[in-house]
Amino acid sequence: MQIFNSTADWLIFRKSIPAEKPIGFVPTMGALHKGHLSLMKKSVDENDLTVMSIFVNPTQFNNQNDLENYPRNFESDSNLIRAIGVDAVFFPTKDEIYPNHYRYRIIENEKSKIMEGAYRPGHFDGVLTVVMKLLNIVNPTRAYFGEKDYQQLMLIRDMVASFFMDIEIIACPTIREKDGLALSSRNILLTKEERAIAPNFYKTLNSHNPTDSIKKELNEYGFGVDYIEDYFGRRFGAVTLGNVRLIDNVKL
Ligand code: PAF
Repeated sequence: MQIFNSTADWLIFRKSIPAEKPIGFVPTMGALHKGHLSLMKKSVDENDLTVMSIFVNPTQFNNQNDLENYPRNFESDSNLIRAIGVDAVFFPTKDEIYPNHYRYRIIENEKSKIMEGAYRPGHFDGVLTVVMKLLNIVNPTRAYFGEKDYQQLMLIRDMVASFFMDIEIIACPTIREKDGLALSSRNILLTKEERAIAPNFYKTLNSHNPTDSIKKELNEYGFGVDYIEDYFGRRFGAVTLGNVRLIDNVKL
């Protein structure tokens, strides 16, 4: 497995890959869990080469504390990746990705303004901008995204179509703990008590009760509720438990 910190080195390697070889790409912010591993496994199965990126993208954090507290563990991440059969890891610095200090960015003006976009202003500008940059650098055949971040997945798919990018976006189902909690890099920030309450988020979201009664029920469990909203045939939710924010969605 090769690790690339510089875009220039990566591009030399990229040019050496024969054009007919399909390349799968899994972009991540590290702190890998079984959800990420399922995307990588799928990519390894479906492509000749799998590339992943680890980059904690500062422009998608609207809260400095959240950025500082975001878990980072390159050592244990690389052991996990090696075991799965990933061929290359792109692990760039902020200066490599933002040489122009974010003067150029991708802005979507409709679906990025609701739900996560309404509660985290600028979040999707940062996500779409970094994903556009990473897709341009890696130049994969297919890129893999989890359905847990369904709004993100929808926007990326839309961006790729809108800019006529020849990349297949593959959606992968949310991976859950046995008790229903969706896997997330933020779960390790939950205290023991919060972790015990957390599965009630999915259970309640999935109950098909009206959104107002879901909010009330979640409040009773001790969650702060940012939103419970129905769009695109799905029910979306974002809650907080102490300092940790969790998102999830289910099909209606
Ligand atoms: O889902 C994530 O981990 C991030 O939003 C992504 C797609 C890697 C962009 O930074």
